[in-house]
This record gives sequence, C-alpha cells and structure tokens, in this order.
Amino acid sequence: MKKYALLLLVFLSVLAKSFAEEGMWLPQLLQTLNEKQMKKMGMRISASDIYSISKGSLKDAIVSFGGFCTAEVISDQGLLLTNHHCGFDAIQNHSSIQNNYIRDGFWAYNKDQELRNEGLFATFIIRIDDVTADVLKGVTNSMTEKERQSAIDKNLAGVRSSAKKESYQDVFVRAFFEGNKYYLFVTETYRDVRLVGAPPSSIGNYGKDTDNWMWPRHTGDFSMFRIYAGKDNKPAAYSPNNVPYKPKRSLNISLDGVKEGDFTMVFGFPGRTNEYLHSSAIEQIVNVSDPAKIAIRTRALQVIDGFMRKDEEIKIQYAAKYAGISNAWKKWQGEVLGLTKTNAVEKRKELEANFEKIVLQKPEFNLVYINLLKDLKQAYAAIEPYAYARDYFTEIFPRIEVFGFANQLNALVNAYEKNGETGYNTAKEKALTTLAELFKEYNAQVDQKLFEGLMEMYVTNQKEQYVSPLFRDMLKNAGNSYAQTASDLYTRTKFSNLSSIKTLLAGSAKEVCDAIKADPAWTLSQDIQKTYSSSAGSKIGELQATINQLQRTYMQAQMDVFTQKAYYPDANSTLRVTYGNVKPYQPRDAVKFDFYSYLDGVIEKYKPGDYEFDLPQKLIDLYKKKDFGRYGVNGRQPVCFIAANHTTGGNSGSPALNADGNLIGLNFDRVWEGTMSDINYDPTICRNIMVDIRYVLFIVDKYAEAKNIIAELKLVSKGKPVK
Ligand code: ARG
Ligand code: GLU
Repeated sequence: MKKYALLLLVFLSVLAKSFAEEGMWLPQLLQTLNEKQMKKMGMRISASDIYSISKGSLKDAIVSFGGFCTAEVISDQGLLLTNHHCGFDAIQNHSSIQNNYIRDGFWAYNKDQELRNEGLFATFIIRIDDVTADVLKGVTNSMTEKERQSAIDKNLAGVRSSAKKESYQDVFVRAFFEGNKYYLFVTETYRDVRLVGAPPSSIGNYGKDTDNWMWPRHTGDFSMFRIYAGKDNKPAAYSPNNVPYKPKRSLNISLDGVKEGDFTMVFGFPGRTNEYLHSSAIEQIVNVSDPAKIAIRTRALQVIDGFMRKDEEIKIQYAAKYAGISNAWKKWQGEVLGLTKTNAVEKRKELEANFEKIVLQKPEFNLVYINLLKDLKQAYAAIEPYAYARDYFTEIFPRIEVFGFANQLNALVNAYEKNGETGYNTAKEKALTTLAELFKEYNAQVDQKLFEGLMEMYVTNQKEQYVSPLFRDMLKNAGNSYAQTASDLYTRTKFSNLSSIKTLLAGSAKEVCDAIKADPAWTLSQDIQKTYSSSAGSKIGELQATINQLQRTYMQAQMDVFTQKAYYPDANSTLRVTYGNVKPYQPRDAVKFDFYSYLDGVIEKYKPGDYEFDLPQKLIDLYKKKDFGRYGVNGRQPVCFIAANHTTGGNSGSPALNADGNLIGLNFDRVWEGTMSDINYDPTICRNIMVDIRYVLFIVDKYAEAKNIIAELKLVSKGKPVK
C-alpha cells in the first residue's frame, strides 16, 4: 500500500513537473502564481526582481522592438540586443552594392558611425493594471456580441482617458483570456533607435531556410542597436543632438553558460497562441487548414526557387520574400507533425470528456455549461468550408503581386471618387513611392508563373461558389489553359511593369482612373475579392463572432471546472515570462538531441560558396587558432542551446536569463517537432532555441574586434564582475 502511495506521489510530482514549463505568464502575477514553482525549479531571484513598479526590475530592460520582436538593454548607454532577423530590415535598408552590410556585416566603432532607422521604435512597459471591472461594467450575459462590444468600447474610452500617466507616456488596454480579463499598459516609446552592429548573414543567418526551425542549430542570430533620447532622457523624435538613453536597468551578462537541468527564463513579447481550443478546432488545423496553406506555399516556393536557381538577380530580389513564405510553411509542417505525434486531438477529447463529467455532476455548472462543447463543435463545423475559402484567398491573393499593384492603384480611384483632384494627387504620390519599393523586388515572369500555378489551385481545389466567375470566363476563353490565361493577362495588363504604370499615370485624374478600371488585372483583382467577400468573408465574420463568444465562455468554464490548474492567457503581443529547464530531447525513436551546439558544428556544416552554409574566412581562422578568449570552454566555443521555455513568434530577440536574472542567451527559434506549442505545449518535445551569449560576445570581440561595444557591457562570472 505504502509503495503504491509513494508511486502515486512520484507520478503526481512528475505530472506537476511536466506542466511546470508550459505557460506564458503575466509578469505582474508571477508572485501570486509562479514564484514558488520558479524557485523550486532553481530560480534564485524573486518575482519582484523581475517585475516591480516601485523599484527598478528586469522588466525595465526589456522592450518591444518595432512591435514585431523583443530586444533588451545591455548597457547603461541604451545598447540593445536583438536577433539578426529582427534587425534585418534596418540592415537591408542601409545596404548597397558598395556597402553590403547583409553580406559583410556592419559595426559602429564609435557612436558617430551608428545609423538612424526611420520608423523603428522601442517600447518599455512602465506599469500593468487590471482594469477588468471597469471595462466590463454594465456588460451582461444576455447582451448580443454587438451590444457587448459597444458597451466595452465605451468603457474602454473612459478607462484609457482616466489612466494615470505622464505626458510622454502612452496607454493601451488589451483583452486576455479570450475577453474575460482586461489589462491596461502604460508605456514609453523611443523613436530614435540606431543600428550599432550586425554580423554578416553567413553568421547571423547561418543555415538559412534549411536550418530554420531546426535543431541542432549553428546560427549567430543577433544584431545590436542603441536607443537615443532627448537631453532629459525622455522619448524624442530623431535628432543629431539626441543622447544615448540612460536606462533604469540594464542586464548583466553571465559568462558561465548553462548545464543540463539549469533554470532559464525568457522575457519578451510573444505574438499569438491558441492553447484553449476545442478539439474540433485542432482537428481542423491538422486536417484542413495547415495542409491547404502548406500546399499553396509549396507550389509558390517551387516556382520562385526555379527562378532563383537560374538567375542571380532574381535570387537577390526574391531572397527575403522566399524566406518569409518558407518560414510559416516550414512551421506549419512541424506543427502538423507535432500535433499528430503527441495525439493532441485525442488528449483534448479526454479533457473535454472530463469537463463534461464534472459539469454533469454539479447543478450550478449544468445550468450554464451543459451545451457548451456541443455548440463549439457545431460552430467549428459551420465555419470549416468558409475558413478553407479564407485560407485559399489569404494565401493566393497576396502572393500574386499584380493583384497587389491593382489594389495600390485602386486607392487612386477611391481617392478621386471621394476627394476629387486633391485626394487623387496625394494618393498618387503615395502609390508611386510604394510601387517603386515593391518593384525593386519584383519580376513579372516570376509573377506570371505564380499566377499560373496558384490560380490553377484556386479553381481546382475549391467549390464553384468561391471561384471568381470572371476568372472562369477568362480560363474558358483561353481554351482552359492556365498558362494561356496567365500569358493573356500579363501581356494585356499595364500593371506588371513600373514604367508602363508611370505612362498610365501621366494623364488627367479622370483619364487615369478610367484607364485603371479598364485594366484586366484591376477587373480580375476586384472580382476575386468581391467573390471572396460575398461567398465567404461576410459569413466568416458572423461565425467567428459566435466562436469568439463560445471560446470566451469555454475559457471561463475551464477555469471554473478545473480549479487545480494555474492558467495563463494566450499570447497577444504583451509582455510575458516563460521559464523552463535546459534539457535535451528525443524527436523520434532512437534519436536523442543534445542541448548544446559548438563552433565545431558550424565548421562541420561549412560548404564553401554555398548560399546557406558559406562562412567568412576570419571565422574559420579563429576556429583553427582556437582563439575563443574567455568565451570558450575547454577549447570549444559554445554556439546555441535549447531549453523547455514556452515561446512563440514575437519572442525573437528575447533575453534568456539564468537563475540569477543574468543574460545567458538570446531566443530566436523553436525546434521543428515542437512548433505545435502554439496550440498544444508538450514538455517532451517542445524546446526553444537560443544563441549562447558567449557566441555573441566572441563574434563582437574576436571577429568584429568592436572593443568599444565590449567595454560598455557588464560581464559577470560566478557572481563577480569580470573586467
Ligand atoms: N523561425 C524563426 C522565426 O520564426 C526565424 C526566422 C528567420 N530565419 C529564417 N531563416 N527565415 O522567426
Ligand atoms: N523566430 C521567431 C520570431 O521571429 C521566434 C521563434 C518562434 O516562433 O518561437 O519571433
């Protein structure tokens, strides 16, 4: 008996432990919900060292980087660390044939060399308040979704305007737990953020698409920026007179690395997760939505790759586009694999069966939740065909760029119809600037081939009511040949070439608008959009509102029914903390992945002249000399490591911190088998991937010899400062 009790205890603690690493937690609730467990897992600092509004805390060193990534302050002069792929736009914008910073890297050896980036910003979180009661005041369960939303909107306006803040601060409110909770954020946004350093792509994006979402990984995915402030240290628009920002807090950098089992946490701005879905929603992702999107992107990538391999110019033009398409494409494949392998649907069904059982036993739940699961199932079944049409539309329409150009030009028509000549002229100016940018990375032949391939899928794989009637006519007139239809369109349209667009724009406003509306690419793009919104788009809005309402109720219901569990809200691009131990994983039978990678592995993958696996000679030389300085361990240079932190897109650039809150790495990816953590976190195969901070320092110090940067940092080892 005693033995069984003991076994049970072990089992329960294993169970509790296995849940331990799941979750993207709200920093202001760590003390209540997580501190005890974090300490048990090895953390040596306290929750108030991570988030506090009365004293400086780690949160004061974390920023949302441009709204799409995370960055952290690593010196008392506002130096920021983020990923290479987060800083890529800035690096690309400053690059030219003469100064190819993408290929060669960029380093500012003094502050005068740092480069301004228009539009880039860094946002600090000053305070987070629970405003649920105020936002939901007067909201009742008998309201329709529309009534509810308008009551909330009215309350929100009041909450925002009465929030306590300084004039240079901003405030926004976000819904959490599917709309059961609301938190207010007071923020400070700095808009003078300058580029300080970036390694060459052959280090910062080593392995490119082949290695993306994969472990073992050997990428030095980092870049550095600096926040500038006005003389008063407050946010200020760009000015040459601005000064380096003096932060409330900057991170100490640990040279000690990590070993298996060590506590780690990642602090940043995860974008979007869906952890509380009904099983039928997961089924739909696995069987319908992901496969549809993957298939369309497979076709698109095949087309683009075919051109990139043959043509050097297209290879450069389409590199970023290809990487973007490929990134989600690869992630979805990992997601399907992971959801299938971990029986996510079955497990969710078990949870639902338990839910049902408890609801039936308790009259008070019985009343409110008895039909919930059935309704959810029905709602997801109802939306399925429309959601499929949405996937087809959102994956195909934007990929065929001539449609995008048609929409750019359509803005002129709209502006003219609404605001006459003046409106038209401003719109024309704007459209020309945007189009000039877009055409730099455009090739009409590639686009025509994409049109041919994707429109075939558009027709073949969809029911008739979702397909543009105009396109069906065009196809019939071309003898049912997609190639012929494509060639007809691209010879007739004026939109697939910048100079013919400019010629078209030369006439009077009226003439131009008539010419735009007479163009076959305009009529087709309009018809495709109209067909989508009348056959699916409008219906989706309605059905999604029902699903949102049901998922909101279901969220509350899960919290009511399974009271022993601690809940974290789905990611919504707000500041979160996730924590987990460093560990290896076993992706499949007989294969076990170690948790550390080294420079030896970088060299093993080296393929001279290759697009993805080439290396700078200087790095190879440093390797041969084993010139790693204080950043190496036992003659080897650590590069990347993995841990069980629950992260997602937006966590790129987030700091990985050790038990003392010191910086040990930089988050940049997840392992392929574990990308389903957005829907169903599984501690056995979900791992985040981080660059070891010592690799970052090695590159800055030994490779770039940017001693000025190293001199700014606060390095520590075994609890003591290192100079
Ligand atoms: N998979 C990472 C993320 O989702 C890295 C993407 C950038 N790297 C690349 N090879 N495309 O953003
Ligand atoms: N690379 C991702 C990003 O840009 C992070 C990886 C992930 O999705 O976990 O945010």
